[in-house]
Amino acid sequence: MTDYRRLRVALLGAGAVGSQVASLLRKHGDELADRAGAHLELIGIAVRDPDAPRDADLPRELLTTAPEPLIVGADIVIELMGGIEPARTYLLQAINSGADVVTANKALLATHGPEIFEAADQVGAQVYYEAAAAGAIPIIRPLRDSLAGDRVQRIMGIVNGTTNYILDRMDSEGAEFADVLADAQRLGYAEADPTADVEGYDAAQKAAILASLAFHTSVPLEAVHREGITGIDKAMMDAARHAGYVIKLLAVCERLPGRGDRPESISVRVYPALVRRDHPLASVHGANNAVFVQAEAAGNLMFYGAGAGGVQTASAVLGDVVSAARRHLAGGVGVGESNRANLPILPIANVTTRYQITLEVDDQPGVLATVAGILSEGDVSIATVEQTVRSEPVPGNGSPASEPASDSVARLVIGTHKALEQNLSETVGRLAASGVVERVVSVLRVEGD
Ligand code: NDP
Ligand code: HSE
Repeated sequence: MTDYRRLRVALLGAGAVGSQVASLLRKHGDELADRAGAHLELIGIAVRDPDAPRDADLPRELLTTAPEPLIVGADIVIELMGGIEPARTYLLQAINSGADVVTANKALLATHGPEIFEAADQVGAQVYYEAAAAGAIPIIRPLRDSLAGDRVQRIMGIVNGTTNYILDRMDSEGAEFADVLADAQRLGYAEADPTADVEGYDAAQKAAILASLAFHTSVPLEAVHREGITGIDKAMMDAARHAGYVIKLLAVCERLPGRGDRPESISVRVYPALVRRDHPLASVHGANNAVFVQAEAAGNLMFYGAGAGGVQTASAVLGDVVSAARRHLAGGVGVGESNRANLPILPIANVTTRYQITLEVDDQPGVLATVAGILSEGDVSIATVEQTVRSEPVPGNGSPASEPASDSVARLVIGTHKALEQNLSETVGRLAASGVVERVVSVLRVEGD
């Protein structure tokens, strides 16, 4: 074995990801040493309960409930505990004691990223976080390094495996939301509290991280518009399929050109949206993730693969560990986060997209004209309209068959041209109150074309 310099690696957490990181570090230690140019010595693993069963066979003597001595004695600290505290405190301790840090903690970076990056800048340390968005998929390094000379215009990402698994099974099998969520939990895709997945919080954290990198602007989590998938039902899935779409929970990060007095700005949002079935994102099945990037010079790029899973995510973590080791050997200060563009972040009300509005209306003369009029007054332009009629015969109703029964209900599916969100939501409110609309069945944005 080559006589490399020894770098001390401390691991905080040995759960789904941490146990695999420790196992691979031990299994491929010699190979990783050749790549890093240093022997990566795992000096200890901090956990809550050293006697708890683990996914990997780890030497008992490496496990400890005392993280601090590990942190201060390490050249590289890997944080895989998750959550905000004590992960934040430990990462800051590691940075301040001269270590480079590797983390997969999207919740922490999306809420305390600026504080952590600032602390690293102060001491010339580097923070690596490839696994914090889209698991095993290399997307952080491409955005931070490979595309640093380009201008990213738009990112559309399926960045949450649980919701993609649920929506995919609802689409392909006609399954019900609650049944599939239970399966996603059983298979280990969902967070401990699946609200983080199904209400879009997990995707919003990842969107904040991706947008910050793509637009060289610090994007706080509060600036990300977020909607989850709990309102999506089988009928909406069927209607989407009928119209040639599939419903996906998307993280959309968009650069918007300056116009008039408005400077160039960005929008970051997470919501279920209709995606045409021939779009590359429509073919992302199961718990997989994909990030579709549109850049001014590079054009369209698609990054695809496992967005979760212990061993898959460990791949991204170990890539960061090798990078951290190489940097440590090279010396010099770490490369700080690029956030000087400082672009304004538009609220959702100022964003324009296409929409599909599904309404149930009375099947009476003039109703379509009234609906069209309300849309026109609201500056929402109609692109397509499809009407289907469901008749509910009333006993004793003697109307001739050729005339619509008085209690027929028509379902209108209206596709709009691009409209301002604020105009759209006000218009939908007026439609709901109009007297001709019995029910607003759904309002979904259309993305990707
Ligand atoms: P787990 O919950 O499986 O593991 C957490 C580990 O941290 C456990 O070993 C636990 O110890 C330890 N731990 C928690 N709190 C403390 C504490 N206060 N002191 C010491 N040890 C502590 O998490 P995951 O491995 O799933 O996730 C780790 C990180 O990776 C998270 O930030 C997550 O968001 C991120 N991530 C996870 C992915 C996945 O597929 N799982 C994918 C992408 C990112 P003990 O075992 O004794 O309870
Ligand atoms: N719960 C997350 C998901 C895990 O479903 O994608 C990976 O971040």
